Amino acid sequence: MNKINPHTKEKNIKWHNFSVNRSKLEKMRGHKSFVLWFTGLSGSGKSTLANALNEKLHKKDISTYILDGDNIRHGLCKDLGFSNEDREENIRRIGEVSNLFLDAGVVTLTAFVSPFRADREKVREIIGNKDFIEVYCSANLDICEKRDTKGLYKKARIGEIKDFTGISSPYEKPVNPEILVNTGELDLAESINLIINYLE
Ligand code: ADX
Repeated sequence: MNKINPHTKEKNIKWHNFSVNRSKLEKMRGHKSFVLWFTGLSGSGKSTLANALNEKLHKKDISTYILDGDNIRHGLCKDLGFSNEDREENIRRIGEVSNLFLDAGVVTLTAFVSPFRADREKVREIIGNKDFIEVYCSANLDICEKRDTKGLYKKARIGEIKDFTGISSPYEKPVNPEILVNTGELDLAESINLIINYLE
C-alpha cells in the first residue's frame, strides 16, 4: 500500500509500510476486520445495539472496539460542538480512527448520529466500500422524542440546546445502507439477529 496524502506530499512526509500489517494481525486474531457504522437520531438505539452486538462478538473471541459519540466527545473530540462544521470534523476524525482499528485487525463498532450523508460517504471512502457496513437505526423522531432517554429532546424543544438533531438541525437518512434496523419497532434481540444474519 502506498498512500499519498495530497496535503502532505509537498511536505516530504512519506507513508511507512510496517511489517506487522493488517493481514498478519487478522491471521493472529483469526478473523477479518471491518467497520460497523451505526447512524440514526439521538435515542434511536445505536449505542444499545452496538453494546449488545459487541457482547455477542466478544463471546465468539472476536477482537472488537466500540467508538461511541458521547464517550469520544469526552476526550478525542472534546473540543468540538454541534455546528455542521464541528460534526463534519467529528465524523472525519472517527473515520480516521476507525481506519486505524481496521488496520489493527479489530472489528470496530461506531455509534454516532453522523447526520450528514456527505460526511458518512467520506468515511466510506476512507475505510473502503468492502469494509464499511452502514447500519441505519431508523426509529423516527416521534419515537425517539417520546423515549427521550437522556431528557435532551425536552431541552431542545424549549431552546436550552441549540442545533439539536431532528429538532433544529437536520438528519439525512442513508439512501442505501447495508443494514436497515427498524429500531422503532423491533426489540433488541430481533435487531441483533438482523445484523448477525447479515454478517454471516
Ligand atoms: S454527531 O452529530 O457529531 O455525529 P455525536 O454522535 O458525536 O453527534 O454526539 C451525539 C450525542 O451528543 C447525542 O447522543 C446526545 O446525547 C448528545 N448531544 C448533545 N447535544 C446535541 C445536539 N445538539 N445534537 C445532537 N446530539 C447532541
